[in-house]
Parts: sequence; structure tokens; C-alpha cells
Amino acid sequence: MPKAIEIASLNAYYGSFHAVADVSLTIAPRSITAFIGPSGCGKSTLLRTLNRMHEVIPGARVTGSVLVEGQDVYGSGVDPVLVRQRVGMVFQRPNPFPTMSIKDNVLAGVRLQRRRLSKGEANSVVERSLRSAGLWTEVRDRLDKPGASLSGGQQQRLCIARAIAIEPEVLLMDEPCSALDPISTLAIEELMAGLKATYTVVIVTHNMAQAARISDKTAFFTIDGARKPGRLVEYGPTAAMFSEPNQQATADYIAGRFG
Ligand SMILES: Nc1ncnc2c1ncn2[C@@H]1O[C@H](COP(=O)(O)OP(=O)(O)O)[C@@H](O)[C@H]1O
Ligand SMILES: [Mg+2]
Repeated sequence: MPKAIEIASLNAYYGSFHAVADVSLTIAPRSITAFIGPSGCGKSTLLRTLNRMHEVIPGARVTGSVLVEGQDVYGSGVDPVLVRQRVGMVFQRPNPFPTMSIKDNVLAGVRLQRRRLSKGEANSVVERSLRSAGLWTEVRDRLDKPGASLSGGQQQRLCIARAIAIEPEVLLMDEPCSALDPISTLAIEELMAGLKATYTVVIVTHNMAQAARISDKTAFFTIDGARKPGRLVEYGPTAAMFSEPNQQATADYIAGRFG
């Protein structure tokens, strides 16, 4: 089975604080993987190690390896900027550039990558990305309006359009629905089922029902106490994990007895 992402013996630190301990797991291409677990167990940290966003924090470092389509993103001579183009990210709070137009928001990343972009090329990137993000029909008549003119749910889909405009291989999403209402959440969940035809998606969610609805595989992380590192407890197909988890800690978490 081909692997899109292979995480091996990964440890993440903030200065002397060991935040994530010894995680190894492999993720198949064109699948959705959910990271779940109690607050502070290192889900966001692990996610950020996958596109080298972790090391942007002063004092933060990583040991171990992360292969994306076979390339070690921590290999010597690998440019983190190129890694972040291959591994895009969507955050918890929609963060479009508020005064920039909807169209320019979609193109923001592409313009950093390719300086020359004809009007025709730009228009086709904008339409393709907004269609993939399920936003095209809602905004096609107001592409020059500012990003901030959209609702929260639309802004989050705009951020998804911006992330996929640069054609990444992997899309990381850190609790992308936690600031959204239920209708907007549903729109994003429906969108994700389509995104996985093209992208390998890794999503952090604190919403267990969401993980169960949208993901193919689930990784459950926990912490054994304050200032202890987060660790991977169990990783497997989502349906099996939610119906018959192998570990008591997973069963307790899923049943709401912890976290
Ligand atoms: N920028 C940071 N500097 C220092 N410690 C951090 C930083 N970000 C997160 N941490 C710590 O790392 C641990 C894991 O955090 P995080 O990855 O955000 O967990 P989760 O996403 O599972 O809630 C927590 O103890 C948190 O306080
Ligand atoms: Mg988090």
C-alpha cells in the first residue's frame, strides 16, 4: 500500500519541554486521518511538525523523521518553504486577509510561488479553487469584495480555497470547524469527503462525532499527567476504533470518561 506520510520516532520539544513523545504512524494517500485526544496532548504540535511549522516557534525542535511522498521533510538541504507548499494548512479561526478581495485571497499563496500569472491563468485558479472549496456559486458575483465580507463559514472555505490553490499534496486542518456554527460545520464536512479524492487530509478535531463521520483512520493521543509528553495510544480504522477500541484509555475517552 503506498504511503503519503510516514512519521517515524517523532519527538517534538518547546525548549526543554518534551511535548510529543516517539510517534510513529503511516498515512495512506487520499484518505482522511483524524487526530483526537484531550486538550494539551500534542495534536496541534504534531500536526505542525508535518509541514515544519513547529520550528518557527523560538526554541522549538523536532527529532525523528517525516516522509511526505517518500521525501524526508527534515532532510538536509530541504527548504521548509517548499515543504509548506506541498503540505498546506488550515487553522482553527478563519484567517483570510480581511481587506484583500476574495479573489486576491485565493491567489495570495500562488502569487508567492509564481510571479508571472496571466489574467486568464489567475481566473482559472480562482474558479477551480473556489469550486473545490464549495464556495464558487456563493461568491462568483462578488470576487472583488473583501474577504471580511463573508460569513465565518464562508471565510473558512475561502481559507481552504487559498490552501488548495497552490495544489498541495497534503492538507492539514487544525480544528477547522471549532469556531463555526453547525450549518457551516456541515458544509465543511461535506466538502472534506470531496477533497479526499485529490488530497491527503489530516484533521485535528475535538468533536468525536465529527471524527467518526468524516475520517478513514483515527489516531488517539493522550498525556499521562501535567508536563508529561503526549503519546500515541492507538491508531486504526475509525469505525473499528469507535466500536471496539483496543485500549482502555481509548474506550474511556470515546465514552467521555476522560478529557
Ligand atoms: N508555543 C508553545 N510554547 C510552549 N509550549 C507550548 C507551545 N504550544 C503548545 N505548547 C505546549 O505543548 C503541549 C501540547 O500542546 P498542543 O499541541 O497545543 O496540544 P493540543 O493541540 O492537543 O491541545 C501543551 O502542554 C502546550 O501547553
Ligand atoms: Mg490544538
